[in-house]
Amino acid sequence: MRRVGRWVDERLGLGGILRAFLDRPIPRDIGWPHTFGSALLFLMGVQLVTGMLLALNYVASPGSAYASTSYLQTHVSFGALLRGIHLWTASAIVLLVGLHMVRTFLYGAYKYPREITWLSGVILFLVVLGFSFTGYLLPWDQKAYWATVVGTNIAGSAPLVGQLVLRLLRGGSAVGAATLARFFAFHVLILPAILVLLVIAHLYMVIRQGIAAPPRKRALVEPLPAEPTMEWYAREYAAEKRQGKPFYDALLKDAILVAVLFSAILFLAEVVGAPLGVAADPNSTNFIPRPEWYFLDVFQLLWYFKGAIEPVGLFFIPTGFILLLIALPFFDRGRQRHPLRRPIATAALVAVLAMVGVLTYVGATAPTSALNETLSTSQLTPEQAAGAKLFATEGCVNCHKIDNVGASVGPNLSHVGRILTAEQMASIITTGKGAMPPFKTLTPQELNEIVAYLQSRR
Ligand code: HEC
Repeated sequence: MRRVGRWVDERLGLGGILRAFLDRPIPRDIGWPHTFGSALLFLMGVQLVTGMLLALNYVASPGSAYASTSYLQTHVSFGALLRGIHLWTASAIVLLVGLHMVRTFLYGAYKYPREITWLSGVILFLVVLGFSFTGYLLPWDQKAYWATVVGTNIAGSAPLVGQLVLRLLRGGSAVGAATLARFFAFHVLILPAILVLLVIAHLYMVIRQGIAAPPRKRALVEPLPAEPTMEWYAREYAAEKRQGKPFYDALLKDAILVAVLFSAILFLAEVVGAPLGVAADPNSTNFIPRPEWYFLDVFQLLWYFKGAIEPVGLFFIPTGFILLLIALPFFDRGRQRHPLRRPIATAALVAVLAMVGVLTYVGATAPTSALNETLSTSQLTPEQAAGAKLFATEGCVNCHKIDNVGASVGPNLSHVGRILTAEQMASIITTGKGAMPPFKTLTPQELNEIVAYLQSRR
């Protein structure tokens, strides 16, 4: 055994590298908050392996995607468990990426010399969201299909480039075979390649710069008068390392977190599993998809921005937030790292977390009608959408409410499709009823459009 080891080491020299890696001193007080990164690495490995196994049983076409997924779920040994692990690990990754970013922010670890490490982390965060967005469609059930209709619509609402992005994502005007092929390619080829490269770059930087020491209220070494930040930082970090401990000390905590997380994932995968609804039906317009829990906050945000200001919630707030994250290390460059010595940064973090928390909670508990309304316009057929427009321009909104828009002179029409047939509606509109005036100037086509819209209100 020894001799084999020596034989290999003579040729590859890995032993030295490994020893240097494990023995390298890291600052003291490296604790639990530092374990998120290594747990993420492990979970990404889990996704890689379970993803490969899932791909063995998956056919990416509208005719077969659902059937192959459902076959895997019911007929392949451990198929359901495999889907469960892949799904719950995806959730765990989003959660840990969030914790990892919050920790890095709180410790001011994005500051010199780790600006590029932070930047690569922000892009990794976006890649992770890309994985979950593209992966969601693959089972091709109702939830997958309609969430993608809504999600791509949101991307399509971006100013200027929206329509182009929409066509690129969908590979056509509607969500269909081309969309599935593209999402599959992104999920299993393009995003993994980007992820692996970014993770390698991220780790390289972390090892090169050393793990950021926990922030201290008083630095170990005071800066000399007029000393440049870089020189002071080098002395400070050297002092941290002198008091530090070897890296493998920290590995135990990493291993414990990984073990706990993976047990929880196995438990959820076995007990809750990965649900599979009925097969996607592009013709049903009354399906209400619910987004994954980590998109609920954005989803709820949309609900507050409607009409002319819709792009604010849809596009400007999320994009602005990402740009802010990217720019962060370049405008916040002070020496202080301790959260209490950076009151503005800490207050901003608390505000963002509180907002995400509240939006997620409200989004998760919102009645489905609220969800439905946010989604409704994106699910309308062209005829129904034209009717929705007429409903406003013909003045129906001056007397009728649909969801929260309109006046209450006449009855609320949010669910009128349940109580009246198309014929009854057409007759009320053309001949009037009680205090409602007749609308005689509508063309037959306009009348059909309005009725089609009202019929969709269920
Ligand atoms: C001036 C106010 C007013 C306007 C404008 C108006 N409505 Fe009405 N609408 C009413 C009132 C009041 C009723 C209740 C009539 C009754 O039942 O006596 C009504 C009833 C209805 C009903 C039946 C609802 C039910 O629950 O029975 C429908 C459908 C309807 N309106 C559609 C429309 C459409 C479509 C337009 C626009 C083209 C419109 N209304 C414009 C006042 C208005």
